[in-house]
Amino acid sequence: MDSHIVLSGINKSYGNVIKAHVLKHISLSIEKGELCAIIGQSGSGKSTLLNILGLLDVADSGTFLYENTDTGKMSDDQRAHFRNSVFGFIFQFHHLLPEFTALENVLIPWQIANGSISSKAKARAKELLERVGVSKDMNNRSTNLSGGQQQRVAIARALINNPQVVFGDEPTGNLDSDTAENIFELIKEINRDVDSTFIIVTHDRHLAAECNRVIEIADGIIKDDIRLEQKTKAERWGVLSPCYCRLKQKVSSVS
Ligand SMILES: Nc1ncnc2c1ncn2[C@@H]1O[C@H](COP(=O)(O)OP(=O)(O)O)[C@@H](O)[C@H]1O
Ligand SMILES: [Mg+2]
Repeated sequence: MDSHIVLSGINKSYGNVIKAHVLKHISLSIEKGELCAIIGQSGSGKSTLLNILGLLDVADSGTFLYENTDTGKMSDDQRAHFRNSVFGFIFQFHHLLPEFTALENVLIPWQIANGSISSKAKARAKELLERVGVSKDMNNRSTNLSGGQQQRVAIARALINNPQVVFGDEPTGNLDSDTAENIFELIKEINRDVDSTFIIVTHDRHLAAECNRVIEIADGIIKDDIRLEQKTKAERWGVLSPCYCRLKQKVSSVS
């Protein structure tokens, strides 16, 4: 099978004097179209891993192959191309530009990639806004939208360049549980229809249980890697419960 994303022996430390070894020899393969959750205690290295996968940051050692291309050998320009055109990002805080409308915000990555906005691009942006349920408000400035609507716009923006991989760092972390569930339904639908790979850091165990795969990070290593496809809801809770027991124990031992 063709490899999509393959990490081998990834290490990452922060700090010069006192070094914090944040990712420790991480090896991991992700297949095309996977909907993958990354879970773990705060400070365990989830965002660091996501940033390395999204080429927002580089590892100190180890290799990251994307479709058999060694990303460590990419030029800065190639890396930027991947970040803007091949990958999409949804963050906890949507980072929409307040002075622009929803439609204009969605078109920004397109404009960066292509220099100008064609009528085809506009049509696609409108179609995406319709898909995420914000088409009625597409000409409203982003500051006039609710939190849930803004996050929907951010999802449309992440998808405008038809990304092969979408990264989410707590994409629903800032939303009430109903809106979070709604947004996650949308992510699942898009994952099914477009076959983009989704890699999502989440603290929400309900959302993690809906993914095809759950990777637990603890102190910079992969503690568990669980496949959930073809499992019933009850079976999913069953196989995930040891991870969440560990997370809970860790919280109570700190507090
Ligand atoms: N830019 C940075 N400089 C120094 N330390 C960092 C930096 N980014 C993250 N860290 C540290 O690395 C560890 C892992 O952080 P992070 O990957 O953000 O964890 P998580 O997302 O699981 O909460 C934490 O101890 C954090 O303080
Ligand atoms: Mg984080």
